[in-house]
Amino acid sequence: MRYADRMGQLGTETAFEVLAKARVLEAKGRSIVHLEIGEPDFDTPASIREAAVRALDEGFTHYSPSAGLPEAREAIAAFIARDRGLPTTPDQIVVTPGGKPVITFAILACVNPGDEVVVPDPGFPIYESVVRFAGAKAVPLVLREEREFRFGAADLEPLLTPKTRMVVLNSPHNPTGSVLAPRDLDEIAALLRDRDIWVLSDEIYSKILYEGTHESIATRPGMAERTILLDGYSKTYAMTGWRLGYGVMNPTLAKHVARLATNVYSCATSFVQRAGIAALAGPQDEVKGMVAEFRRRRDVIVEGLNKIPGITCRKPAGAFYVFPNIRALQVKSSEAERMLLEDAGVAALSGTAFGAHGEGYLRFSYANSIENIREALRRLETLVQSQARAAR
Ligand SMILES: Cc1ncc(COP(=O)(O)O)c(C=O)c1O
Repeated sequence: MRYADRMGQLGTETAFEVLAKARVLEAKGRSIVHLEIGEPDFDTPASIREAAVRALDEGFTHYSPSAGLPEAREAIAAFIARDRGLPTTPDQIVVTPGGKPVITFAILACVNPGDEVVVPDPGFPIYESVVRFAGAKAVPLVLREEREFRFGAADLEPLLTPKTRMVVLNSPHNPTGSVLAPRDLDEIAALLRDRDIWVLSDEIYSKILYEGTHESIATRPGMAERTILLDGYSKTYAMTGWRLGYGVMNPTLAKHVARLATNVYSCATSFVQRAGIAALAGPQDEVKGMVAEFRRRRDVIVEGLNKIPGITCRKPAGAFYVFPNIRALQVKSSEAERMLLEDAGVAALSGTAFGAHGEGYLRFSYANSIENIREALRRLETLVQSQARAAR
């Protein structure tokens, strides 16, 4: 049988592959500490679960409009208006199963074959994957550790060409945990606002922030009409398996994106959308509690990594990932990923799972208990020591 050529362009998310390998080892009786997958280990707050059960009982078991239930779009528009300080109307909202479809639909709706899209490198691999799938070219914007993995207009401007159709921003950032400063957003907005370039602003980690308050580039003058803001419930409310997210965009683009949804999955699950309304309307104490716990874990893992000879690690300002520098260990990142899993029983990701410029780094998700994080650090240190002995 033959498969379509375009499948050769489609990438993947290595986290799911490492998870699958780890599960095979576990089935053989091996103990694995999971620091590969980016999902909160907490349960979804009870008030949200109860809202879903109520919605099921009330009959929210049918199709909703492709853009989402009117009351869900209203709740999200009101949330974005108060949270980001960005006047927003329900016709700008498309509710999606998880935040991910917003990436694919924004690219399909705005980017032609042959166009160029600037994507962060290292960055979430799905951006490049979908850009290539759409027949366009992904242009890497290299994020450097010396620059705290941030960037500004001076880094972006040399990459812009007449073919540039979109720039992808992701702050707080997966995999480095970096956060763009307000002045970075000012500069980037000033550079882009008079050009025919879309901005996909992936803000899925907006609430997992340890310093300052989150700002969206969409709030900068002239940017709302050209920005697709992606956010959702997966990370903030520990709802990864529910599949609920949304995009905020100009109403014309929202219609295009909703039509893509009609063609692909019709609508996000109706009772899950009702639970999403409860999540935004309800108390946010549990979110604050989860973020406080992530901060404690961040401090433990950063301190522990920096104690291991050959590893240095910056303290990230957001998300739940660390991106330690392992260059001094003189081993390729992909090999370090393999040894960690197979020899030490720690599932983590090679920095190169996020682009060529992730070489020399590993990504650990610290969405795991402090006990497990300490155990992973012990295993990592033992591996590094035994490698050092073998090299002598
Ligand atoms: C940067 C980034 N964007 C989007 C997503 C997708 O989130 P969801 O599970 O809501 O589709 C993820 C999930 O890992 C992510 O890290």
